[in-house]
Amino acid sequence: MFTGLQLKNPDLPFFSHLTLLFTHHLIVMKFSLVLGGLAALASTAVSVKVNPLPAPRNITWGSSGPIPVGDVILRTSDSHHHKHKIVRHAWARAWDTITDLKWVPAATEAPIASYEPFPTGAGLTKRTAVTISSVQVSIVDGDAELQHGVDESYTLDVAASSGSIKIHAQTPWQLIISDGRGGLIIEQPVHIWDAPLYPYRGIMLDTGRNFITVPKILEQIDGMALSKLNVLHWHLDDSQSWPVEMETYPQMTKDAFSPREIFSKSDIRRVIGYAKARGVRVIPEVDMPGHSASGWQQVDPQMVACAHSWWSNDVYKYHTSVEPNPGQLDIIYNKTYEVVKGVYDELSDIFEDNWFHVGADELQTNCYNFSTYVTNWLTEDPSRTYNDLVQYWLDRALPIFRGASPDRRLMMWEDVYLSDPHGTDVPRDIVLQTWNGGLTNIKKLTSSGFDIIVSSSDFLYLDCGRGGIVSNDPRYDVQSNPDGGVNFNYGGNGGSWCAPYKTWQRIYDYDFTTNLTKAEAKHVLGVEAPPMVDSVTVSNEFWPRAAALGELAWSGNRDASGRKRTTLLTQRLLNFREYLVANGVQAQVLLSKYCMQHPHACDLYYNQTVIT
Ligand SMILES: *[C@@H]1O[C@H](CO)[C@@H](O)[C@H](O)[C@H]1NC(C)=O
Ligand SMILES: *[C@@H]1O[C@H](CO)[C@@H](O)[C@H](O)[C@H]1NC(C)=O
Ligand SMILES: *[C@@H]1O[C@H](CO)[C@@H](O)[C@H](O)[C@H]1NC(C)=O
Ligand SMILES: *[C@@H]1O[C@H](CO)[C@@H](O)[C@H](O)[C@H]1NC(C)=O
Ligand SMILES: *[C@@H]1O[C@H](CO)[C@@H](O)[C@H](O)[C@H]1NC(C)=O
Repeated sequence: MFTGLQLKNPDLPFFSHLTLLFTHHLIVMKFSLVLGGLAALASTAVSVKVNPLPAPRNITWGSSGPIPVGDVILRTSDSHHHKHKIVRHAWARAWDTITDLKWVPAATEAPIASYEPFPTGAGLTKRTAVTISSVQVSIVDGDAELQHGVDESYTLDVAASSGSIKIHAQTPWQLIISDGRGGLIIEQPVHIWDAPLYPYRGIMLDTGRNFITVPKILEQIDGMALSKLNVLHWHLDDSQSWPVEMETYPQMTKDAFSPREIFSKSDIRRVIGYAKARGVRVIPEVDMPGHSASGWQQVDPQMVACAHSWWSNDVYKYHTSVEPNPGQLDIIYNKTYEVVKGVYDELSDIFEDNWFHVGADELQTNCYNFSTYVTNWLTEDPSRTYNDLVQYWLDRALPIFRGASPDRRLMMWEDVYLSDPHGTDVPRDIVLQTWNGGLTNIKKLTSSGFDIIVSSSDFLYLDCGRGGIVSNDPRYDVQSNPDGGVNFNYGGNGGSWCAPYKTWQRIYDYDFTTNLTKAEAKHVLGVEAPPMVDSVTVSNEFWPRAAALGELAWSGNRDASGRKRTTLLTQRLLNFREYLVANGVQAQVLLSKYCMQHPHACDLYYNQTVIT
């Protein structure tokens, strides 16, 4: 049984996307048809070159040539009609984009050297008899929730014989292009099978160190939906501010940066709903017990240790935090747990995801020299160590976190297991997010049996190399170029602890499962890129670099023969950047526009296999 939906198709534009999300048993489908225009198509012997990002796992092309796309009707084959609201809305958004943008993408791929040429079609002429007039979507089942591990695979077939595009699952796409004369065409036949390599493909938004407005958050979700990123890790708070409206402890938002820099419950619901409609999960993080001063101290100053200490990285043996401002939850003070439970339970009611991130990074032992509860606890029994203190936190806090939902999976930063101090018995069902030590830590964690999310700062931190994050820093008072000086400007060239800047090529070329056994590699559930940004810089930092990460985690960085395909990503990404901007996502420019219009002209090497 089909439910059809007629959509108006006015004079056709040049570029568009269609993001459809089908929430159904076992399958969440999300696809965009990105209609990319070839500006200068002649009316005969036209090549149709499309280059979707992320590249699908497998496309099989025919050579019958492109056919026109007419008034397209959406058909779905599921009787759960109520579920189709999401699909209809997605379709409507897509068609609006088609008609609004009138967009002509400049970047196409061209064959070079030993690379397999991108498949091309034959001419458009005399092929007007058949027209694509429907998108037929078949949905396996109607009840799957958008949660970790949901099946995101799909197949897509374009066939002139049926005049339709048949989709049996989900994806963003760039198949339909303008014919340069106001019409749309699509290459056919095309068969695509597609599914992600990794179920977790995320970016992290930090609204604790700087506020980010709701419209800017939604802008990121738009970019994510287009690049098949599916997890928004929302680092809600940090030491610096508490921006989340709370009913249990309304006083916490006294530590927002201002009354205008607070997320209301309806703001949060709006973000979650907007994300869900685009196949994006929202995983909240409340960073505890480190990185915790703002908010908590308003409930009870005693539950925060060292909040008013000098952070002391100038006299490091006294340092109470590695980044200003200090403050850690007092692990021994009993009321800490009462307040943590109140906050956690309230947030659990609003965030629907089965995963919750509870922080656990960068605990500094010196901070607890300011706590009589902790110092007494340590002296009461001289055999106690700071590792025992971390374990004490886990033993008391984990039941609170697990109590909120039996299905819940907890995430923590790797520090809880790898740093000094660390827990002595960290449960293996906690997903650890690795951000230090690159491949070394990935190996350590996976070989210890942890499921992990890879955020290695040397590859995936997008704010690196933009200068340090502290002031009054004499290390920058230099009168010659510090190039080459190891640690000359804190962390390397360009300053910042994780310098240098991570380019899209560095991100894409990161082989993060190198040297893992098969069993260890299975513990890698996905990847995530975190930067520190505010509303002004957020889109610029993420895009289009996060899209390179999207492809890395969706279909990998290698072609069928096992060679790195970074060179082929270039045009996809340059094109995608333009498309993001056209969709209102303020993405950074990567290369001169000339490079986009002249594939490979800007390659550093003519030899296309120098990247291995
Ligand atoms: C902090 O307290 C611990 C435990 O009493 C002690 O070993 C350590 O030396 C103190 N740190 C400093 C910088 O005084
Ligand atoms: C704190 O809580 C623990 C565990 O519930 C209890 O054993 C202890 O007596 C409490 N301490 C104080 C000072 O209330
Ligand atoms: C992988 O393991 C091999 C053999 O132990 C070693 O030579 C190589 O350096 C490792 N590669 C990386 C990137 O760690
Ligand atoms: C794609 O599918 C075709 C047809 O099933 C198959 O022959 C080909 O090997 C596949 N290519 C890749 C890269 O998996
Ligand atoms: C291209 O570079 C690869 C990797 O360095 C090298 O093995 C190959 O010989 C080069 N090809 C040519 C034609 O120079």
